[in-house]
Amino acid sequence: MTTSTNSVEAVKPTKSVYVARLLTDAVTRELDSHAGLGFDIGQEAPPARAELLERVTGKDAAIVTLTERIDEEFFTAAGPSLKVVANVAVGFDNIDLDAAARHGVTVTNTPGVLDGATADHTFALILALGRRIVEADRFIREGNDWVWGPRMFVGLDISAGATLGIIGLGRIGRAVARRARAFDMRVIATDATRPLGSSVDGVEIVTQEELLATADVVTLHVPLLPSTRHLINAETLALMKPGAYLVNCARGGIVDEQALIEAIDSGHLRGAAIDTFEGEPRVNPELIARPQVVLTPHTASAGEATRDRMCRLAVDNVLAVLDGREPLTPVKAS
Ligand code: DGY
Repeated sequence: MTTSTNSVEAVKPTKSVYVARLLTDAVTRELDSHAGLGFDIGQEAPPARAELLERVTGKDAAIVTLTERIDEEFFTAAGPSLKVVANVAVGFDNIDLDAAARHGVTVTNTPGVLDGATADHTFALILALGRRIVEADRFIREGNDWVWGPRMFVGLDISAGATLGIIGLGRIGRAVARRARAFDMRVIATDATRPLGSSVDGVEIVTQEELLATADVVTLHVPLLPSTRHLINAETLALMKPGAYLVNCARGGIVDEQALIEAIDSGHLRGAAIDTFEGEPRVNPELIARPQVVLTPHTASAGEATRDRMCRLAVDNVLAVLDGREPLTPVKAS
């Protein structure tokens, strides 16, 4: 167990913070400047459940990631001293907000600091899929004979009229839209808060049916909620334009992976790029076996400065709450 306290002034910590995973180096170094706070810092890997429950006991605050399940058992183990749980992620489907409210614990997340990185990754996947980058790379590495030909590795003409369909035009969805517009794509989106037929920054708001039927690439940017679980299923996949692609950098549970595999095998979809998985970190071996599927291990926000910003925002939220101030980015139960 690593405990970091302010050793310069030798101030005895009055409040203790459990940090379930190693934060970035820059933010870990900054922890020493917070006099009066003791940080009990975990390892790079997620803690085992028993360790999580033991180490949070009696703490005033916890900084956790999406790999930790924060539920009734967690809050009971922590006890009445716990004031705040800061998630190092914008998504918070790992946290039982009702249980947090019952225990009077504030929950915070990290919105607004990872939009660019996540949109960059999403667009990288769109380009990789459309232009078959991973397939072509594998083809060369396998030592296949090849010679230039008009039919070789033909893919999607992204900047010649392809349509991108964005499900969820929040901050990340809008950042993806800006990239797509710069590539001359037509961009359509669904969004619960904007009127159908309206246009936002060159993005047309359409129904989900129209989006699925029209888009060459569909990309998901909604949170995982009971209402979005398996939003992409056999039925909605069947509504997609034949030969289209699906990109998921949101949450695994939004896509029924088995239905996706069937849509790819039938040839209805041309491919998919997946950053987030239903049984994460386990990846369905059937997805791995499909060359038309590009896979990344939930790294969409993994920009160096972005990860510093995410960790720093989580720490700042803890400092605010323990200081009796309003948290910067609280999560409100809907
Ligand atoms: C999030 O923030 O919710 C991502 O999935 C991790 O960056």
